[in-house]
Amino acid sequence: MYGGRGAPSQEDLRHGATGAIAIISTVNETIDSAVMDAAGPGLRIVANCAVGYDNVDLAAANERDVLVSNTPGVLDKATADVAFGLLLATARRIVEADHHIRTHPDWHWGPREFLGRDLSAGTTLGIVGMGRIGFEMARSATAFDMRVLAYDPRPLDRRSVDLGVVAADLETVLASSDAITLHCPLTPQTRHLMNERTLALMKQGAVLVNTARGPLVDEAALHRVLVSGQLSGAGLDVFEDEPRIYPGLVELANVVLLPHIASAGDHTRGAMALLAIDNVRHCLEGRPLPTPVGC
Ligand code: DGY
Repeated sequence: MYGGRGAPSQEDLRHGATGAIAIISTVNETIDSAVMDAAGPGLRIVANCAVGYDNVDLAAANERDVLVSNTPGVLDKATADVAFGLLLATARRIVEADHHIRTHPDWHWGPREFLGRDLSAGTTLGIVGMGRIGFEMARSATAFDMRVLAYDPRPLDRRSVDLGVVAADLETVLASSDAITLHCPLTPQTRHLMNERTLALMKQGAVLVNTARGPLVDEAALHRVLVSGQLSGAGLDVFEDEPRIYPGLVELANVVLLPHIASAGDHTRGAMALLAIDNVRHCLEGRPLPTPVGC
């Protein structure tokens, strides 16, 4: 068991994995072929305690007949809650206003002070990735009277349609939404999904929220559109090269930054851990995994 702070080195991981029959990993650990080889031929499962599993080399696991699982379904609401919090915080400039009164004892009320965007004034939320978390985000948005557009390579499911979510292609969602929230997995195809070109397609003054994976966004390009005013704000829980944050972003008042906490609800983190353990138990008992990936 790794008891250190932050991400262990690959050397620590290989050392800790030696002889393991099961590895329970988090987003902090990169489980590559060398870690699996350090565990040795007895390794049966990598149970990733996260819904995203881009930190696990699936091909290497397949080659070694090692099962991989993740923790979908138990963190949808917690993650969408934080995404919605970031949406509210950026649209209504909550963190910026908090910082202002802490640093300006002479602050005053004024009719145009900290004017932000009303979420419920005919505002459209664009959801990129309409899985379970995207659906919870849509539920929150509709409760705030927002219109919801969604892009997903798969057709919308019945409950999303019933909620009033309208499917569109990525370009249409980006160009028609006042806020974009990302809820898709990180794959070679989605890396830098939000880049110079796609960020430029977003509505003037829109906001971007990312609680999915940092590398979905080209942070240098995001910094440029925030500085130019093309986007009015961004709420980021994840970063391209965690825990490093693109330096320019830290300096911008219209960016809200969180340390990858979207699933950090007390109940949720417990449920994630139990599901990861359950996957290990099923594997060792020779039963089908509750939540396998890539098999
Ligand atoms: C996930 O589940 O993928 C989160 O990012 C980690 O908590």
